[in-house]
Order: sequence, then C-alpha cells, then structure tokens
Amino acid sequence: MAEQGKDPFRLAILTVSDAGSKGERADTSGDVISEAAASGGLREVYRGIVPDEKDLVSQRLAQWCDGGEVDVVLTTGGTGLGPRDVTPEATRAVIELEVPGLPEAMRMGTLEKTPFAMLSRSVAGVRSGCLILNLPGSPTGVRECLEVAMPAIPHALEMIRGWRTHAAG
Ligand code: MTE
Repeated sequence: MAEQGKDPFRLAILTVSDAGSKGERADTSGDVISEAAASGGLREVYRGIVPDEKDLVSQRLAQWCDGGEVDVVLTTGGTGLGPRDVTPEATRAVIELEVPGLPEAMRMGTLEKTPFAMLSRSVAGVRSGCLILNLPGSPTGVRECLEVAMPAIPHALEMIRGWRTHAAG
C-alpha cells in the first residue's frame, strides 16, 4: 500500500456496536480490517469501539481526524436500516468533502455476492486531511467491501495529502 521509501499510511479502526462496546460481542470485524490493512501496508495506530450513538461516533471520528496522526479511518457497523444504525449520519456530520464513489463501488461491486449489499448506507468523506470510510458490520461484509475499496485507497490518500499542505500554509 505505501509507496517505496515513504512512511506507511496510518489507519484507525472504529467499530460501531452497542454489544461490542459493552464487551458482549467479540470485535471480529475490527480484526478483519486490521488483518486486511496490515497486508495492504497500512500502519494501525488507533482502534476503538463505540456504541451506536451518533454524537459519540462523530466525536471519535473528529478527534482522530483532527489529531493529525491518522490518514484513514475505517469504521465497521451501524450502516443499515435499523433504528440504532447512525454511522452514516455521524460521518456526514463531520466530513468536509464527500467521496460517494467508494461506497457506491462497494455496493455495486459486491451485489453479485449478496443482494443485501444494497442495504448498506455507508458513506465516505474527508475531514482534516483524513479519509473516513464506513464498512458494513459483518466480517464477510468488511472483507468483501475492502476487496473492492482497497485498490483505490492509496491514490485517494495521496490526493488528500494536498489538503493538509493547503491547510498548513
Ligand atoms: N455488503 C457485503 N458486501 N456483504 C455483506 O455481507 N451485509 C449487508 C450490507 N452490506 C453485507 C453487505 C447487510 S446484511 C446489511 S444489514 C448492511 O450491509 C448494513 O450492515 P450494518 O448495519 O452492520 O452496517
């Protein structure tokens, strides 16, 4: 993932799950992201679990992006149609630039595997020079969607670097 001679891009993983935040469910989807990211050359710097509360999700995303130590945040969970599914809204509340193509590609690119792919309302966008991408909550969904999205992420992050330089000066 990282270009030769350059520092690897820094990754934060946020699992959005009521049960996971209470320790009632193992964070298998977070583990899948972690493994896929490591084999893609991303360096994991933060990992967390928050309940399906819009403000808590937004706060954590903003904190990580604004801290300047993260290049990409991958979230898992809370993108469906349930009454507690608020990850897309929490993401939209903090992004400065939306990147619709990533979730569009994940939905289209995995539709052959499951018609439920069209039920994820996942969002992607940029805040403070950091890319945020929502993934579905199931480990299979994470794996399938990352397969589609990962090839575009290094180029996305290279382009986003310009925002940091721009903001700095
Ligand atoms: N996308 C892929 N590729 N594979 C999956 O298994 N699961 C779907 C969908 N996207 C899935 C997927 C299901 S069942 C749901 S309900 C939505 O993502 C939202 O999941 P979430 O609420 O756990 O984020």
